[in-house]
Amino acid sequence: MKAWVIHEFGGPEVMKLEEVGKPEIKSSEVLIKTECTAVNPVDWKMREGMITMLLPHEFPAIIGWDVAGIIEQVGDDVKRLRVGDFVYAFCRRSVVKDGTYAEYVAFDAEHVAHMPSNLTMAQASSLPLVALTAWQALFDFANVKEGDNVLIHAGAGGVGSIAIQLAKHAKARVITTASPRNFDYVKKLGADDIIDYNSQDFIEVTKQLFPEGVDTVFDCVGGKTFHSSLDIVKKGGSLVSICNAVDESYGAEKGVKTGFVFVAPNGEQLSSIARLVENGVVVAPNLEEFPFHEAPIALEKNREGHTKGKIVLSLT
Ligand SMILES: NC(=O)c1ccc[n+]([C@@H]2O[C@H](COP(=O)([O-])OP(=O)(O)OC[C@H]3O[C@@H](n4cnc5c(N)ncnc54)[C@H](OP(=O)(O)O)[C@@H]3O)[C@@H](O)[C@H]2O)c1
Repeated sequence: MKAWVIHEFGGPEVMKLEEVGKPEIKSSEVLIKTECTAVNPVDWKMREGMITMLLPHEFPAIIGWDVAGIIEQVGDDVKRLRVGDFVYAFCRRSVVKDGTYAEYVAFDAEHVAHMPSNLTMAQASSLPLVALTAWQALFDFANVKEGDNVLIHAGAGGVGSIAIQLAKHAKARVITTASPRNFDYVKKLGADDIIDYNSQDFIEVTKQLFPEGVDTVFDCVGGKTFHSSLDIVKKGGSLVSICNAVDESYGAEKGVKTGFVFVAPNGEQLSSIARLVENGVVVAPNLEEFPFHEAPIALEKNREGHTKGKIVLSLT
């Protein structure tokens, strides 16, 4: 099968479209024929060796974490899924080696779910990593609930596009940061208040809107944005980052729960997300599609940092 492989860390030049062996499945796994895979910032970060502190890597390594496709084979112990099922998954393993930029992906059936029936393969592939990230940060970590005020940084990005919708579904009020060209987009996704992070100071604007602070800040940007956000979380609230390593004691003095969420595969949550999509509660992000052979170009596009929604790679 064809796959985008790296043999060393580096820029786009280390990505090689190679012929590699088709994966063999274990009894608990399914083999998925990939229709589409998505581009995430972690793809170029992995390619450049930026996430070696989070997971061990083994060369040659196939890039990619998201898949939408059709089941071609099921392991002996798999009962819930069948050959021919349309599925999607976030395929993170304990070692970075067998990614999803490949014609076939083998993965534990427990973490694979039926994709939303009202989506295209491209739309479905855009969801697993970002939707699980948003779910695990907002609900598992920050316990966002009805009546909460939630500030989501980078609402127009992949994670932000879903986080806005999930927080609104929980009946929270959503404030988000975005550029003016994306205001209509984040408003359509449900944002109640929008802050132009280029020309406005999000701390000042948030303090004007919520003098006591917000219940949760979901940081999808990191660095200075993460650190200054502590200022606008109320006592008893949460500051959750997916970009910054967080010392557990950070925020303790203010009575704020802080933490870093590293997204984990979760088939049950993906099934719940599929129901929300089918019921019209969550819509797929804005998409830009590239053919599979243009993966290096697609990664560089995402690396610029201004993706609106998601970039996906189509294999068909
Ligand atoms: N820990 C985890 O498990 C995990 C999981 C998923 C993602 N992540 C990380 O989280 C980050 C976001 O991921 P993503 O997939 O959402 O990325 P993305 O789709 O590439 O994000 C692009 C968006 O970020 C916006 N943006 C850039 N700088 C901003 C700023 N200072 N303030 C507000 N918005 C800003 C851009 O808006 P403009 O076009 O207006 O600039 C664009 O809409 C990445 O660093 C990624 O690696 C971590």
